[in-house]
Amino acid sequence: MSPFLLTRTLPEDATDAALRADVLRGLTGTPKTLPPKWFYDAHGSDLFERITELPEYYPTRAEREILVGRSAEIASVTGARTLVELGSGSSEKTRHLIEALTGLHTYVPVDVSESALTQAGQALIAERPGLQVHALIADFTAALALPRTPGPRLVAFLGGTIGNLPPVERAAFLGSIRGLLSPGDALLLGTDLVKDEEVLVRAYDDAAGVTAAFDKNVLTVVNRELGADFDPDAFDHVALWDARNEWIEMRLRSRADQTVKVPALGLAVEFAAGEELRTEISAKFRRDSVSAELDAAGLSLSHWWTDSEGRFALSLSTCR
Ligand code: SAH
Ligand code: AVI
Repeated sequence: MSPFLLTRTLPEDATDAALRADVLRGLTGTPKTLPPKWFYDAHGSDLFERITELPEYYPTRAEREILVGRSAEIASVTGARTLVELGSGSSEKTRHLIEALTGLHTYVPVDVSESALTQAGQALIAERPGLQVHALIADFTAALALPRTPGPRLVAFLGGTIGNLPPVERAAFLGSIRGLLSPGDALLLGTDLVKDEEVLVRAYDDAAGVTAAFDKNVLTVVNRELGADFDPDAFDHVALWDARNEWIEMRLRSRADQTVKVPALGLAVEFAAGEELRTEISAKFRRDSVSAELDAAGLSLSHWWTDSEGRFALSLSTCR
């Protein structure tokens, strides 16, 4: 078998139908919203990689510090032979874990971004001869059919991406992850932690404007895929801290009264000057909230590691 296999779990027309449904629901609702998974076409995935290198965006560096320090321990506790990574992106930090997992047989990166999967998968098989990489183009919030591979299985969900799911979806998602685990398997979860508002807002509104470009990329995706006529320059990027929900919200604020046409949906969407379209939430966590949410999904937290500045946490949990 070739060491690199790329499987599309949903036909392209299903992805198109999902985008149409999300855009129709999101642009006709109040307030207007779009789900963040549509940020990640090839350009959006590149912009995200640039975000991870920004001085203001600490989560990637903080999580990498934990992985560098703890991968050997994670490898010895889990003994994983299959590593499944949800929302794997460039798999850049995951390399530390893969290197430490000396008995690893198969790596299964799962992402909606085909460009990210192909680049990461091909680099990994060159670096680690003998490793099988079975990449899945899939939506991790939908039912996942994983390839049959040897256990124990370690499911990794890094980067704090769990915070991009609203609480109700997050609970359902953790329940479905629980369903992927058998006794002896484990979940490695990255969660960004609650901290000073100023630090948080800066991480999502950087001086160079890379996050603003990432935010507006969703408009470009809707233009390309559904023939819409969004003018990205007619919107301002906004990042704000919602203290009650303990999450960052990214929004696009209309600079003027305007009408946007989405021909593929037969829609004309009115924006009032100052009206905001919510594009992402990024929830921040505390140890107690992570432990309680895992517990509610039938998972027990066994290890909790933070970076040296206490900004980000990695936790390991097992099923009950
Ligand atoms: N894990 C990497 C990348 C995080 S960026 C890191 O820590 O740096 C979030 C990744 O999740 C992107 O690669 C994006 O394409 C993917 N993603 C977002 N929503 C998704 C969904 N619903 N299903 C599958 N992948 C998704
Ligand atoms: C992928 N996810 C964890 C990022 C975050 O921090 O919520 C996405 C992102 N949005 C803006 N900057 C980064």
